[in-house]
Amino acid sequence: MAPKEEYHFNTRVIHGPPSSEDWQGATLAPIFQTVSHRHATAESLSQTFSGQKTGHIYGRLSNPTIRNLEEKLTLLEGGLGAVVTASGMAAITNACMALLRAGDEFVAGNSLFMSTYLLFTNVFKKYDMTVRLVESSDLDEIEKAINARTRFIYLETIGNPKMDIPDLEKTAAIAHRYGLPLIVDNTIATPYLCRPLDLGADIVLHSTTKYLSGHGAATGGVIIDGGEFSWPEDRFPDFKPFIDRKGPLAFLDKAWREHHINFGTTQAPFHAFLTIIGLDTLAIRMERHMENTLEVAGFLKEIPEITWVNYPGLEDNPSHEMAKKQFEGKGFGGMLTFGLKDQAACFKFIDGLKLIYHLANLGDCKTLVIHPYSTQYVSFDESKREALAIAPDMIRLSVGIEAVEDICKDLKQALNRF
Ligand SMILES: Cc1ncc(COP(=O)(O)O)c(C=O)c1O
Repeated sequence: MAPKEEYHFNTRVIHGPPSSEDWQGATLAPIFQTVSHRHATAESLSQTFSGQKTGHIYGRLSNPTIRNLEEKLTLLEGGLGAVVTASGMAAITNACMALLRAGDEFVAGNSLFMSTYLLFTNVFKKYDMTVRLVESSDLDEIEKAINARTRFIYLETIGNPKMDIPDLEKTAAIAHRYGLPLIVDNTIATPYLCRPLDLGADIVLHSTTKYLSGHGAATGGVIIDGGEFSWPEDRFPDFKPFIDRKGPLAFLDKAWREHHINFGTTQAPFHAFLTIIGLDTLAIRMERHMENTLEVAGFLKEIPEITWVNYPGLEDNPSHEMAKKQFEGKGFGGMLTFGLKDQAACFKFIDGLKLIYHLANLGDCKTLVIHPYSTQYVSFDESKREALAIAPDMIRLSVGIEAVEDICKDLKQALNRF
């Protein structure tokens, strides 16, 4: 069963669940920098391999430091179990591959992170696994895209960088009506802002590289299984051995056993350690990220050179009402996009920044900026960029936790160069 959620989120994020490992009194998960674990008897290693006994065997399969991160993230998302992976993309790949066979289909909201989009539309296609892209918030379109070969529905809580917010509760209800699980990439919202499993989703994914680790120091990902989906036999006949073996954790077992350990998508214990430290401050960082972003959004709106601002926290934003409902008034996230005259203006603005870092990442405690059209999406053809709402005039800003006056001052002085 999921660990009892006895304490508030801000406490749980620091203390986590009781560790299943022996830390010898250490207050923080030690880095178990070892590849293999010795077993005192032949019987013990044999039983651990067969699953009769819990324990660690080999670093690609599991590690005590990583186990601690898995237990913490399971608690924060209210799941039943988790597998930590080397990156967010490894989590997405393993989760989808555990569900898809050649000839299968799935339905995904079209506001996807760039690599997820390429994985779904290019890579999976090679293996005859087909994504049906739909408008993330259009429930009719989602329902119409489901057919007998569909295996799951996939959404991002807050689209990166489209910033749209689909209705998870209603989408989960549609998914369940057709015997399908709903998978949600919760990277941009974090469990501080939204817990998709509470809203009916079945599997949650993260790039822990972003807000969860929070310092731009550790790459990682996680698959969290809610443990409540029943994997009906008509759609999921291949799940039987996993259900027999692991019951409610059948999906996680399949993702781990078939893909994670064979693809070798293991995270290094040091990265898990850094992420565990990062988690301690997740709640307080998110509070500040969101407070600052709301203020920066209001500030940008008043600047004449800025043609538009896309942030769900703004009252006139199309996702504002959904954000208020789904995030229960806790905030609207730490990222926004805005428009300048054209690409040349975006380059001039970026080149003028002094404090804000120009790089490809988000969710760091430092404020980060990027021009997606000419970087992550540079190899996309124009029709795809349009479909994903990636325009030449768009800047993406991941607002950090610095003094907001200094963030605004840097934005202003870069804009003054126009
Ligand atoms: C929403 C989202 N999902 C997944 C990923 C992929 O994560 P990673 O870079 O850790 O593989 C990213 C990366 O930016 C992201 O923004």
